[in-house]
Amino acid sequence: MYFIGIDLGTSGLRAILVDQIGNLIASSESKYEVSNPNPGWSEQNPEDWVHACKLAFLDFRDNFPEEVSKLKSIGVAGHMHGAVLLDNQHAPVRPCILWNDTRSHEESQMLDNLPKVRDISGNIVFPGFTAPKLLWVKNNEPDIFQKIKTVVLPAGYLNTWLIGAPFADMSDSAGTSWLDLRLRKWSEHLLVSSNMQIEQMPKLVEGNQIAGQIRTDLASELGLPNDVTIVGGAGDNAAAACGVGAISEGEGLVSLGTSGVLLISRDQCKPFPNAAVHTFCHAIPDKWYQMGVILSATDSLNWLSKISGKTASELDHLLPNEPIGPANEKFFPYLSGERTPLNDAHIRAGFSGLGQTSDLAKLTQCVMEGVSFALRDCLEAIRKTDASPSSLLAIGGGSVSQFWLQTISNTLNIELEKPKSGEFGAALGAARLAISAIMKSPIEEIMTKPKIERKIIPNQKYVDLYQTAYETYKQGHVHLRGLQ
Ligand code: XUL
Repeated sequence: MYFIGIDLGTSGLRAILVDQIGNLIASSESKYEVSNPNPGWSEQNPEDWVHACKLAFLDFRDNFPEEVSKLKSIGVAGHMHGAVLLDNQHAPVRPCILWNDTRSHEESQMLDNLPKVRDISGNIVFPGFTAPKLLWVKNNEPDIFQKIKTVVLPAGYLNTWLIGAPFADMSDSAGTSWLDLRLRKWSEHLLVSSNMQIEQMPKLVEGNQIAGQIRTDLASELGLPNDVTIVGGAGDNAAAACGVGAISEGEGLVSLGTSGVLLISRDQCKPFPNAAVHTFCHAIPDKWYQMGVILSATDSLNWLSKISGKTASELDHLLPNEPIGPANEKFFPYLSGERTPLNDAHIRAGFSGLGQTSDLAKLTQCVMEGVSFALRDCLEAIRKTDASPSSLLAIGGGSVSQFWLQTISNTLNIELEKPKSGEFGAALGAARLAISAIMKSPIEEIMTKPKIERKIIPNQKYVDLYQTAYETYKQGHVHLRGLQ
C-alpha cells in the first residue's frame, strides 16, 4: 500500500509518496508566490496551490504508476491561520489572507479583549489568526463578506478540492480563535463574538481520521484509484511534529522555516496565553502542543539575500562552520512584526551597532543570531508554562546551516538533533496521518523519531557570551518600539 503526504508551504508545495512504513519512494516540489499588495499584507491565490498539487500528482502518476495504482490515502498539511473564503460552489471569493498578514491588528485586539475569548480558545487572538481577518473583511469588503458560505484553512482548501466538500482538522482549526481548545469543537461563543455563524464552519475531524473519498472525476483526471481516502491532515507545525515523532509530553522541535517555531508536545491541554505562547490541538486525538512562533526566520535571511544579490547558501558560505562568539552588531528580526513574545504587529526590524567593519559576513552572522535570540525568547516564554525541553529536533530549510544550528544551540544552551538528510518534516507527518488512518497500528509505531545525522551540543566555551548578548538583544525590543 502507498500513501501521499503534502506540505502546502508558504513558498511552495512539497509532496511525498511513501510506502506503508513511511519509507520515501518519491518527492515532488514546486514554488509559488506570496503577494504583498500593501505594507503588512500577505496573500496567496488558492488556485496556485491546486495547480502545484496537480503537478505533484501527475509527476507521481507518470514516474511511479505501479505505486500510484496502490495508493490508499492522502494527508495534507498546510501553513496555518490563512482565511480561504468560499462561496456556495466552494470557490474562493478573494485571495487567501495568510498567517503573516497583520492588517487585522485592530480587529484582533478588539476580539482579544472580549470576555472568555482567551479562556476558550487558549490563545491570544494574534492579528495573523483567522477570526480577526474575517472581521476585517466584514468591515472593509462587505460585498465579499456577504458571499461567504464557508471558511476553510489552506490545507482544508486542498482537501475540499480533493473531496468536493469542505471540512477542517483539529490542529489547524485551533489556530482560528473559533475552536474550544479543550473540548475540540467549534465554540458558538467565539463564533458569535466575531460575527460568524456555526453554519459557516466545516465539519471537524481529527488529523488521522478519514474525512472522505477522492472525487471520482478528479481521480480519473489525475490517474488515481477511485477509492483513495483523504484524512483530516494538519497545520504544518503539528504535522512536522508528527514527522519527527514529537508526539508525547516534552518532545520538541525547533523549525527554521519562513517562520521560526519552538514546539513542545503536551499530553494535556495547559494553555498559557499571557506569555504569548500558542497552545493548539495536536494532529492526533487527546494531545496538544505548545509553541513560540516568530514571523521571520529564514524570511530574514532571504531578505538579506534579496538585497545583497547573494543566495542564502552563498551568504552561509561567508561564515565558518563553528561560531566563535556573538557579533557586536545586533539584528532584530521583526520584518513582519512579531508574535512570541511581543505580540506586536507594528514593530519592524532593525540593525544596531553597525560600524565600518560590518561587512556582509557580519550582517549574515547577526541575522542568524537575531533569529536565534528570538527563538530564545520563545524558549523563555515556553518555560513560563510547566514545559521544559531537554533536547530539540532541528528541522526546516535553515537547518542546512551548521553555523546557524550551532548558534541556536549556544543561545538556547540546549542540545539539538539534526535528522539525516532527506528530512521531510510536515509532508512526512501528513503521510503518517494517512498511514495511521488506514493501518490502525499504535500511533507511536508510526510516528517514530528520524535517524539522527548529528547532535549539536552547546559549546560551553561561548554559552556565557551568548547569554550576555541575549540580554542586550532583549533591551532592543524596548528601544525599537520607541522608534516606530
Ligand atoms: C504558526 C504560524 C506559522 C505558519 C507557517 O502559528 O503562523 O508557523 O504555520 O508555517
